Amino acid sequence: MSDVRAAQRGPAPRGADSFLRMWRELLPVGREAGAAGYRRYAWSEADAACRAWFQGEAEARGFTYEVDRNGNQWAWLGNPADGDVVVTGSHLDSVPDGGAFDGPLGVVSAFAALDELRARGSALRRPVGIVNFGDEEGARFGLACVGSRLAAGQLTPEAARELRDADGVSLPKAMERAGYDPDAIGPDLERLSRIGAFVELHIEQGRALDLSGDPVGVASAIWPHGRWRFDFHGEANHAGTTRLEDRHDPMLTFANAVLAARKKARLAGALATFGKVAVEPNGVNAIPSLVRGWLDSRAADEETLAAVVEEIECAATERGHRDGVGVTVTRESFTPVVEFEHALRDHVAKLLGRPVPVLPTGAGHDAGILSASVPTAMLFVRNPTGVSHSPAEVAAEDDCLAGVTALADVLEGLACP
Ligand code: GLV
Ligand code: MN
Ligand code: MN
Repeated sequence: MSDVRAAQRGPAPRGADSFLRMWRELLPVGREAGAAGYRRYAWSEADAACRAWFQGEAEARGFTYEVDRNGNQWAWLGNPADGDVVVTGSHLDSVPDGGAFDGPLGVVSAFAALDELRARGSALRRPVGIVNFGDEEGARFGLACVGSRLAAGQLTPEAARELRDADGVSLPKAMERAGYDPDAIGPDLERLSRIGAFVELHIEQGRALDLSGDPVGVASAIWPHGRWRFDFHGEANHAGTTRLEDRHDPMLTFANAVLAARKKARLAGALATFGKVAVEPNGVNAIPSLVRGWLDSRAADEETLAAVVEEIECAATERGHRDGVGVTVTRESFTPVVEFEHALRDHVAKLLGRPVPVLPTGAGHDAGILSASVPTAMLFVRNPTGVSHSPAEVAAEDDCLAGVTALADVLEGLACP
């Protein structure tokens, strides 16, 4: 594991070798030469390579491999039609220049945990599945968790078909180019109804476990979060000849909105980030005609989140009046607060055999989307940098292996009672 700090502590799970091998094999996929981090975007070549890896691991173990109507990949041990299936997994796609762990840790650990159970000789009494949900990060089409949202009926096929990437390629076109059928997408409620429990293991996206000194924790809740597109309409003009007082410069209004977002979020104890921006015409010597900024905002409760976004919109609009810039705001996605089912959460925590931290998170997950239809829980693995959505995201090798053991214990407790 080239970017995992190796410091073996305690007995390694018997799935350790397979974890390390799989990790090594997946590590170069989607890491272009010269790029700062991973670029595993939905329906790209890197995504296809990740998918081929998943299929290979499933078939090498003799699991039944399946791709659902929305392009999510499944590997079954036992017959899912029997129902009450225990499912684990996560996603393999990444944000732009993302880290190695967000997503893949959950999928690699899932295969390794089942290897561990086989090595223990555990007899499964419930079918078990591993899933790779498609397009979790929404890096390409702007909407997160497209695969799980479609499956859960939280995104209509019509709305999904309208999604476009930065080059104007539609989601159906991208799926088609990748060899998938976009006409098939839609709710998959029967499949979800067969799932008795979904447990997603994920790297922690913060430092709570590092501070508490625990390699593994359990999720309590996911903060409500959403994405809003702010369009600032100004007037294109010459950067060298237009007097400052004659300008209608949308970049100025946008800059003020960024500062307002920071201030409003700070005052409310929330989070607000403009992390993506597009400028037209995007010339060094031209005042822009349009600046488009995407706001990601999150808070502990939905009322606070709504209030913060409204305040940012008001501040941007007011400033727009002064700058002669029109501001329009479009909500592109919203995910309500998720409180993980207490019974499963407590059961999972008990199966770990020792007290572990129970943590909320501001990060979105497929587990959060599924939690509306399926009993769902999450395990977090310590991340000493606390950094995520960046190549600085890291988990030590012994913590990854502790995660494999924890997931194996949980799957064993659920599927081999
Ligand atoms: C996904 O990781 C998100 O929280 O946006
Ligand atoms: Mn992520
Ligand atoms: Mn993730």
